[in-house]
Amino acid sequence: MYVCICRRITDKQIEALCKDGVTSLADVRARLGVANNCGRCGQHAREVVKQFTSQTRFVNAATA
Ligand code: FES
Repeated sequence: MYVCICRRITDKQIEALCKDGVTSLADVRARLGVANNCGRCGQHAREVVKQFTSQTRFVNAATA
């Protein structure tokens, strides 16, 4: 699903970054350019990052 229409960024791309250790919207923004144009996607992108980082923490805790 597209999160940022301006940059054509999907939730899967954000998920891949989170799996690589990215934990903030600022980092996603710097790497993918999310919310750098019209800015309408900022809140949704933040929620996606939060969702994927919390899932990653849960998986890491379960395997530790
Ligand atoms: S929809 Fe993401 S910057 Fe416009």
